[in-house]
Amino acid sequence: MTLYDYSSHAEFYDEMMPLLTEESGEIAYYSDVLRGKQRIVEFGCGTGRVSFPLIQHLAASGPLKEYLGIDYSQEMIDVARRKLSEQDDIPPVERIEFLMADATKTIPKLEEGAYDAAIAVCGLTSLLGVDRLAAFFRNARFAVAPGGTLVLDSLDPEIIRASVAIVDRSYMRTSDSSGLASFVGVSGDRYNAEFVWISGSTARRFSEESQLVPPEVLDEVAKASGFRASPHESDELQHKVAQVNGPVMYFRVYTRV
Ligand SMILES: C[S@@+](CC[C@H](N)C(=O)[O-])C[C@H]1O[C@@H](n2cnc3c(N)ncnc32)[C@H](O)[C@@H]1O
Repeated sequence: MTLYDYSSHAEFYDEMMPLLTEESGEIAYYSDVLRGKQRIVEFGCGTGRVSFPLIQHLAASGPLKEYLGIDYSQEMIDVARRKLSEQDDIPPVERIEFLMADATKTIPKLEEGAYDAAIAVCGLTSLLGVDRLAAFFRNARFAVAPGGTLVLDSLDPEIIRASVAIVDRSYMRTSDSSGLASFVGVSGDRYNAEFVWISGSTARRFSEESQLVPPEVLDEVAKASGFRASPHESDELQHKVAQVNGPVMYFRVYTRV
C-alpha cells in the first residue's frame, strides 16, 4: 500500500490543522486517559501538534519525566524540534525528545519496558493499514511496561463510508485568506483523499491513501500483540472529541498485558 509522506507539508501542517486541539477536547481526553503516566512515547507525533499541549496538561497535573515523539518524516521531526527550541514555557520535564524512526521497524533508541504509556493519534493506524499494524503494536508492546496504557485513534469506516456517499467534496474555510479543500473517495477498504491547501496567494496540493480499519480488527491485532481493550471512563469526553472531529475517528484505549 502507498504510504503518504507528510514531509511535503510539514511546514504548513499546523496551520492547516487548527481543529482537533484544545477546543475539541482532544487534549483533555488524552490527558485524562494518560493522567499519572510519567514516561510517554508518541508514535507518528508529526510536528508535535498534540505532543506540546499534552505535555503542558500532563505536567500541570503531576510529575512528567519523559516524552519521546517518534515520526518517520525527518521534516515533521525538524518542525517539532524547532518548536521545542522556540518554546519559552516548557514545563520541568527531565527529557523531551523527537526522533526520526519508522514506527513499524525496530527502533534502536527505544528502551524495552521504559514507558508507562504510548499514544498514536490522528490516523497513524489508518496510514499503516492492517498489514503493518502488527509491527507497530510489537514496537508499542516492547516500549510499554506491563500494565501500561496505549491510546490510539483510527478512521471510522462506517462513518467515512456514510459521509463519502453523501458528499464527495468538502471545503473548510479557516480564515479569509486560507482554507482547505478535500476531495475524498473510498474504494474497498482504501480511503483516498486529495487536499488543496490555500494560504494567501499560494495553493498546494497533496494526497493521502489510508486503509479503513474497523474497531474490531484493531482490537484483534491489539490482543494478538499483547494488549487488552481497556475502555476508559472518559466516554463523555471521547464523544465530544468525536463530534468536533467530524466525527470520523474512533478511539481505543488498551492495557499492556
Ligand atoms: C496525520 S499525521 C498526524 C501527526 C500527529 N500525530 C498529529 O496528530 O498532528 C500522521 C503522521 O504519521 C507519520 N507516520 C506515518 N507512517 C509512519 C510510520 N510508519 N512511522 C512513524 N511515523 C509515521 C507521518 O509522517 C505523519 O507525521
